[in-house]
Amino acid sequence: MNLATVFPPFGLRIEAGPLVLRPITDDVLPELVDLALGGIHDPKMMPFNVPWTDAPPDRLPLNFTLYHWGQRASWSPEHWGLEFAVEHEGRVVGCQSFATHNYAVTRTGETGSWLGKPFHGAGIGTMMRQAICAFCFDHLDADEITSAAFADNPASNAVSRKVGYQPNGTQRKTRREGEWKGSQQWLLTRETFNRGAGISVSGVPEFRAFIGLD
Ligand SMILES: CC(C)(COP(=O)(O)OP(=O)(O)OC[C@H]1O[C@@H](n2cnc3c(N)ncnc32)[C@H](O)[C@@H]1OP(=O)(O)O)[C@@H](O)C(=O)NCCC(=O)NCCS
Repeated sequence: MNLATVFPPFGLRIEAGPLVLRPITDDVLPELVDLALGGIHDPKMMPFNVPWTDAPPDRLPLNFTLYHWGQRASWSPEHWGLEFAVEHEGRVVGCQSFATHNYAVTRTGETGSWLGKPFHGAGIGTMMRQAICAFCFDHLDADEITSAAFADNPASNAVSRKVGYQPNGTQRKTRREGEWKGSQQWLLTRETFNRGAGISVSGVPEFRAFIGLD
């Protein structure tokens, strides 16, 4: 018995060219906290619906860790989210997630991601999104994948466009206290998916059984 046997998301691993997407186990949490403390975006902007990066440096490490423990603790077949740490050439650079409701029926879910600021603008955000989408389409039988980004987040919107997501309306979303901003919704299907490097994966049969696909 090991933890991946108990909790199959911990057995997943996606390799795509220079990237590895690995589960956020406790050993990688401190590295991710260090990255987040080093800055993810210009403090004047806020790319996240929940403005977690506004937390003071003495609160952010615990908040971040509790969030990831909470994601595991609240896992259910009806509502789950995959959270991966992203390594580029062996270095932890950010996070990539896929969150869904009633996946066994809906076959859809939403991607979310961030990178430490030093790693922006080098194509990593595009590659990690291509990797998670290839994984969902090819190994989890996804029918569609959604994403969303505020109108003032050109990098995230550019990644969605480059990966082949199509515009799917806008929504008003709250972010910082008392503020709303238009959020561009995006929808990706196999037909328009712009694949990047091929992926190789492990841990899939156990994970498919865990989420009720097999
Ligand atoms: C969003 C994010 C993951 C993208 O990752 P990245 O590695 O920087 O993205 P890439 O280098 O793969 O591509 C970025 C694209 O955005 C474009 N872009 C970046 N800033 C831009 C700007 N101000 N105006 C127009 N395009 C812009 C780049 O030109 C590039 O497109 P190109 O390759 O066609 O030139 C990263 O910027 C990030 O972590 N941002 C902060 C957190 C965040 O916004 N998360 C998403 C929340 S929805």
